[in-house]
Amino acid sequence: MTKVAIIGAGPCGLSALRSFEQAEKKGEKIPEIVCFDKQEDWGGLWNYSWRTGSDQYGDPVPNSMYRYLWSNGPKECLEFADYSFDEHFGKPIPSFPPREVLYDYILGRVKKGNLKDKVKFSTTVTSITYNGNNFEVTSRDKKDDKPSTDIFDYVVVANGHFSVPFIPEYPGMKSFPGRILHSHDFRDAEEFRGKNVVVLGSSYSAEDVALQCHKYGAKSVTIGYRHNPMGFNWPDGMKEVFHLDRLEGNKAIFKDGHIQETDAVILCTGYLHHFPFLSEDLKLKTGNRLYPPKLYKGVVWQNNHKLFYLGMQDQFHTFNMFDCQAWFARDVIMGKIKIPNDSEIEKDINKWVSMEEKLENPEQMIDYQTEYTKELHDLSDYPKIDFELIRKTFKEWEHHKVENIMTYRNKSFSSPVTGSVGPAHHTPWEEAMDDSLKAFLNK
Ligand SMILES: Cc1cc2nc3c(=O)[nH]c(=O)nc-3n(C[C@H](O)[C@H](O)[C@H](O)COP(=O)(O)OP(=O)(O)OC[C@H]3O[C@@H](n4cnc5c(N)ncnc54)[C@H](O)[C@@H]3O)c2cc1C
Ligand SMILES: NC(=O)c1ccc[n+]([C@@H]2O[C@H](COP(=O)([O-])OP(=O)(O)OC[C@H]3O[C@@H](n4cnc5c(N)ncnc54)[C@H](OP(=O)(O)O)[C@@H]3O)[C@@H](O)[C@H]2O)c1
Repeated sequence: MTKVAIIGAGPCGLSALRSFEQAEKKGEKIPEIVCFDKQEDWGGLWNYSWRTGSDQYGDPVPNSMYRYLWSNGPKECLEFADYSFDEHFGKPIPSFPPREVLYDYILGRVKKGNLKDKVKFSTTVTSITYNGNNFEVTSRDKKDDKPSTDIFDYVVVANGHFSVPFIPEYPGMKSFPGRILHSHDFRDAEEFRGKNVVVLGSSYSAEDVALQCHKYGAKSVTIGYRHNPMGFNWPDGMKEVFHLDRLEGNKAIFKDGHIQETDAVILCTGYLHHFPFLSEDLKLKTGNRLYPPKLYKGVVWQNNHKLFYLGMQDQFHTFNMFDCQAWFARDVIMGKIKIPNDSEIEKDINKWVSMEEKLENPEQMIDYQTEYTKELHDLSDYPKIDFELIRKTFKEWEHHKVENIMTYRNKSFSSPVTGSVGPAHHTPWEEAMDDSLKAFLNK
């Protein structure tokens, strides 16, 4: 029987499991599937952990989520086509849920069947090689500290790419008297109440970690961008300045001459695509971009069509894009989609990469990833979903952020699956201190 290994039981791995389950429900004969996850439970980053550094087995903690994280995009943009928010919660819910609510939703559809039996938890995949015919996958059961090796026909890599932090060094860090951490290790903004905080970066982590610190009572928040400022209308107590030059004692000195006393520096400097378990010939090498190279349809490894990567793109679209990728990979594995010849593959990849290189602003990037996801969607039987509405919602969301970065999470959008409109949340985001599922759903 054909055997498929899935590495990771985060949203992408779960999309893969779900895709096979759906085919089986339609009476198709599916391959044998083994999913590995190094965490004790499924959900990937959404399975919040208080831990930082390494876990009780000495394995690096993959989790980068923090308490009080709320969705930074409208939930309507990431909704599963085959499992709506309305179906899961039994009623429409507001458009920007906190982490615990999204976690509950992600797990809702996979909990219904017996998919959990297919996952080997607390099991780290340590090596994957290809012998010309099939893959040798070696993993380590962390609880028993025992390695084991098995042979698979296909491998789906779904280990995420926001777990291994990129940590630059600036002069003065060694003698800085305060705390320096990467956003990967940021857990609770309460820690910074009453403190002067410097945040480095100009992307989503910098934006949201800075806002969290402000919301939970930091004395001041100074964001140091390197290339382009985010340029939002920051509230009093927050500012954006140009690039950190050095730390001198507890002073952060920026290249525009700005000097800020600081208690903590939070490096929101992004993550590395990291695949220590893959042999060189199978390893994707890329930064965080919308079309990583060497992936046909963003999914199939150009040099070995039995190897698939899910979710390796920089992400506007998330869960429903992961689903489209998983359904596509499933159909390639099950022989329903034929991979074209090498030159057509090359042409297709080059087309997407060269289009990506011309993108100039977020609107164009949203269009690009929407087109990509739509193309993939058309290739499988993943259920109907209104990508034009999602495109429009993303663009409105961008405008709302520019209008007011403190209030964009109070807006409502309509579902691309059911059409229902998210009700206004009972408490504006800035005042909502309790991010529990109970508080969020409670009227
Ligand atoms: C701080 C933060 C906030 C985010 N917020 C949002 C948001 O609001 N909305 C949104 O849509 N997206 C958000 N994202 C994007 C996020 O990438 C996706 O939501 C999603 O978690 C990606 O799923 P994944 O399965 O690719 O990766 P992950 O969620 O990272 O899951 C990967 C899994 O692989 C496992 N794994 C890794 N290596 C191995 C190994 N060697 N062996 C076995 N298992 C392994 C890990 O344990 C993990 O469970 C956020 C990301 C970050 C970092
Ligand atoms: N739900 C939420 O609210 C939430 C919160 C946080 C994160 N996220 C998600 O997490 C993912 C990762 O986001 P991310 O912001 O961590 O990574 P990212 O989008 O890859 O951005 C990395 C940032 O680091 C900066 N950087 C890199 N090296 C630097 C250096 N030496 N000095 C200063 N800046 C440097 C980059 O700046 P340059 O542009 O100058 O290179 C860029 O702004 C995204 O998918 C995002 O949606 C979501």
